[in-house]
Amino acid sequence: MAATPRYLVAFHPKRMSHFFTDVLVLGGGLAGLRAALAVDPKLSVVVIAKQDIRESNSNYAQGGVAAVIDADDRIEDHVADTLQVGGSLCDPEVVRQVVGEAPQRIQELLTWGTRFDRAGDRLALGREGGHGHSRIVHALGDATGREIMRVVIQRARRAPNVQLWENTFTLDLLTLEGVCRGAIVWNDRHGKTMIWAKQTILATGGAGQLYRETTNPEVATGDGMAMAYRAGAELRDMEFMQFHPTVLYIAGGSRSLISEATRGEGAWLVDRYGRRFMADYDSRGELAPRDVVALAIVSQMEKTKYPNVYLDMTHLDPERVRNRFPGIAAVCAEFDLDITRDRIPVRPGAHYMMGGVVVDREGRTTVPNLWAAGEVATTGLHGANRLASNSLLEALVYGVHAGEGASQAAARLQDNFSVAPIENPPVVGPAEPLNLADIRNSLQSLMWRDMGARRDAEGLTEALENIKHWGRYVLPRQFADPTGWELQNMLYDARLMIEAALARQETRGAHCRVDFPETDDPRWRRHTSFRIEGGA
Ligand code: SIN
Repeated sequence: MAATPRYLVAFHPKRMSHFFTDVLVLGGGLAGLRAALAVDPKLSVVVIAKQDIRESNSNYAQGGVAAVIDADDRIEDHVADTLQVGGSLCDPEVVRQVVGEAPQRIQELLTWGTRFDRAGDRLALGREGGHGHSRIVHALGDATGREIMRVVIQRARRAPNVQLWENTFTLDLLTLEGVCRGAIVWNDRHGKTMIWAKQTILATGGAGQLYRETTNPEVATGDGMAMAYRAGAELRDMEFMQFHPTVLYIAGGSRSLISEATRGEGAWLVDRYGRRFMADYDSRGELAPRDVVALAIVSQMEKTKYPNVYLDMTHLDPERVRNRFPGIAAVCAEFDLDITRDRIPVRPGAHYMMGGVVVDREGRTTVPNLWAAGEVATTGLHGANRLASNSLLEALVYGVHAGEGASQAAARLQDNFSVAPIENPPVVGPAEPLNLADIRNSLQSLMWRDMGARRDAEGLTEALENIKHWGRYVLPRQFADPTGWELQNMLYDARLMIEAALARQETRGAHCRVDFPETDDPRWRRHTSFRIEGGA
């Protein structure tokens, strides 16, 4: 991307408040909090959360955490399933490392008091698409994320060395001579503050809000990827946005996730005529991996000329369904649907970004003193398509790695607490006010239409032209609050995603090019990579 402003806002250290911490964690989801808890208690930690600390993708996760728990299951099988679904772009060493650590991370959560569901004296294990074995650990039926976050938030609140700053927006990473020195943040009470940190961990989550249809909450606007890009970090594989097959589709209703675990329990996918159709597309039926199921649903919607298909659990034991999916039952009941008797209208929606900020095995990015974990990062675990319930697992494992790594690095630095001469002089921008909601809605519709589950060169080229056009008058502006900054971040991310999707002239994992329907290993068994021209 040519000549983009280094920072979103103008600032000068003499006219700002300053705060100092050993480790700064940007993001209050599972990866961020697990990282904060991995820091040596002798070091100070500040965690920045954009809204209330419970408002994150982690909190809304339903399915669970994949881990080899059952005596009949094997680490090699979980590794093989992850590699198989990942479309030959996973890093096998990373997969082995993360999958191998899973039982330990589950045990740790149990020790901390997480109430995972049980079958007798054992953990109850669910099944999801792409898994050859039941290995999904879940909690309160379909509220796994909420239960894990309850425990982790409580622990972070009690940790004497950890401060949580909620309702605080991170504008940009501060860099001096290419080295990360902390971040500039904003909140209603204090305005802009420069937080100087010996080490910074990026854990800002995903970017589902770039799409009109998404399972992600409003906070998921891809801020971390955009700010890392502006700071000179390498980003990779931004074309790989995963579409979850089953998102509740009711006019006027929230686009709630309908967990893949429903299909693990035996739910069917049927079209408007009540016909089960998955066998037409894949021999694994409803338990095929999500890229396969999402594309099958899109095709079936087209064939039947209908805006959705249905998830059907009416043939299953009603009591079991109610106990296993109390959250889904409650959301559907708000729309007068009884999930034990009525079919649930669903269609795919943007769910999870496999690409992001490149990190090594410890969670180190390419910018010195900057680490990353969770959805904002790309570790090599997911490749071109994430296996269900591997994301909370990755957040836990890489949260620990990044937290420990940052902690050790901060302890080694004698003093990094001076205010560095970093400033961003004001520029005169256009004065005409913009209708930001209108641009955001247009961006979300455009991404859904042209950068959705199926793409082609014509749509992508047109989308890129639009994004560039909007960027020319939105990016140079100075906004005063998160509405404008989020839109700017979304424009940065959208451009990287579309450029990557245009470049990858093949179909692989979650990236489906209808004009290049085959996988092209000789040319494309590799990553797409982005770094700002000239560095930070
Ligand atoms: C789901 O419950 O279907 C989502 C799980 C995941 O995204 O891994």
